[in-house]
Amino acid sequence: MSATSQWFRRMIRLAAAVALASAACAAYDDLVWKPDGRIYDKPPQCVDIPDDLRLCYNVGYSQMLLPNLLEHETMAEVKQQASSWVPLVHKNCHSSTQVFLCALFAPVCLDRSIYPCRWLCEAVRDGCTPIMEAFGFPWPEMLNCSKFPEGDMCISMTQPNTTETTRPTGVSDICPPCDNEMKTDTMLEHMCASEFAFKSKIKEVKRENNDRKVILQKKKKLLKAGSLKKKDLKNLVVYLKNGADCPCQQLDNLGHHYLIMGRKVDKQYLLTGIHKWDKSSKEFKKTMKKLKTHKCPAFEHVFK
Ligand SMILES: *[C@@H]1O[C@H](CO)[C@@H](O)[C@H](O)[C@H]1NC(C)=O
Ligand SMILES: *[C@@H]1O[C@H](CO)[C@@H](O)[C@H](O)[C@H]1NC(C)=O
Repeated sequence: MSATSQWFRRMIRLAAAVALASAACAAYDDLVWKPDGRIYDKPPQCVDIPDDLRLCYNVGYSQMLLPNLLEHETMAEVKQQASSWVPLVHKNCHSSTQVFLCALFAPVCLDRSIYPCRWLCEAVRDGCTPIMEAFGFPWPEMLNCSKFPEGDMCISMTQPNTTETTRPTGVSDICPPCDNEMKTDTMLEHMCASEFAFKSKIKEVKRENNDRKVILQKKKKLLKAGSLKKKDLKNLVVYLKNGADCPCQQLDNLGHHYLIMGRKVDKQYLLTGIHKWDKSSKEFKKTMKKLKTHKCPAFEHVFK
């Protein structure tokens, strides 16, 4: 099945769920489910989803409520917070990741708030947690699934008992930091989501418990320092978290130079992205050029 027709089917299901939910709401006007008893100063406004709200611009509807269900009051705040999640959506950790996140970040315009269903949250969480953990992020408390309703009045995509939602994403058959497209936007997003980035060759790769330990050559060209000091850089070892057996082509070739990105988590440096340093790639060259002026959205607010 083509990606487009799959998308289309998903959207029909979403539209049906929304229509059902709003019908249910109209019938039970007094049963407004609010997870935290929040009361708005002013009623939410219905606004166009801007094209630079990349997480949700193509989600299947064109307008959203502001403030959203995460209490972001301005579009600037929504954009900044949502941008952290774009890389996760690219990872396809769950087919409903975007719908789930956009139900919260850019809720569809109805006369009341409809939250994603708890099982949808749990399915996305279970699919995406291994990938987030590979990057050193826990599932954030603001998406704690127990906040979301279990009833009929919620956003859902597929039945919770279909194979799509119960199939767990194996940790060992994917290597999230390695399977990155050589696309300028993707690379910049990953660069922004990483604390440090440099150019280096790989000296040696070893297994260590469930991780892969990547020992780098001494010589490095720093692109983004983060909290890295010069002395840390010299003998830097990065870990591919839970990646002892996952396929990572880049680590098989010790001859190349690589663009290596990472984050420091609990005294360990985690590998969050690795690309061949490929001057013959247009996308790569464009990335390096854009990097000089690119402004990263702040991501620390979402993933603590
Ligand atoms: C989610 O929230 C519930 C209730 O507030 C709490 O008991 C639970 O520990 C939280 N779960 C996580 C993973 O933080
Ligand atoms: C899902 O479960 C319900 C009730 O448990 C059942 O009626 C339905 O056929 C199931 N759907 C699938 C696709 O397995």
